[in-house]
Amino acid sequence: MKKLQRFGVSVETELLDKFDEFISERNYKNRSEALRDLMREALVREQWQEDEIIAGAIAFVYDHHHGHLVNDLMELQHDYFTIIISSQHVHLDHDNCMEIILAKGPANQVGKLYDSIRAMKGVKHIDLLRSTTGRQL
Ligand code: NI
Repeated sequence: MKKLQRFGVSVETELLDKFDEFISERNYKNRSEALRDLMREALVREQWQEDEIIAGAIAFVYDHHHGHLVNDLMELQHDYFTIIISSQHVHLDHDNCMEIILAKGPANQVGKLYDSIRAMKGVKHIDLLRSTTGRQL
């Protein structure tokens, strides 16, 4: 268990009231855990901005009948084999597939992989989960 340290924060009553309402709606039992999560979120955002080693997920939906899309996706994923941890493919219906790629590596590379998939014709929707390896948090 990591060593805990207490610190005092001065804040306007109105802002604190809003924060308490915010954390209560999200089922936090106290301010400390909510503050810790917000601090970690800020640090993870910075990890991505500073091109640190991160972990993330790219989820996308596409029509597998579309041109050479399936082959292009395969080629692209081989280009990024050093950062792709795993990928999962599910057939949503006769035409549509959903794929989730888990990646760990420099943030810029994961971002480039995401951009490349997003720009492909036939990809209907895509989202990037910017997470962390969890180290130093
Ligand atoms: Ni499929």
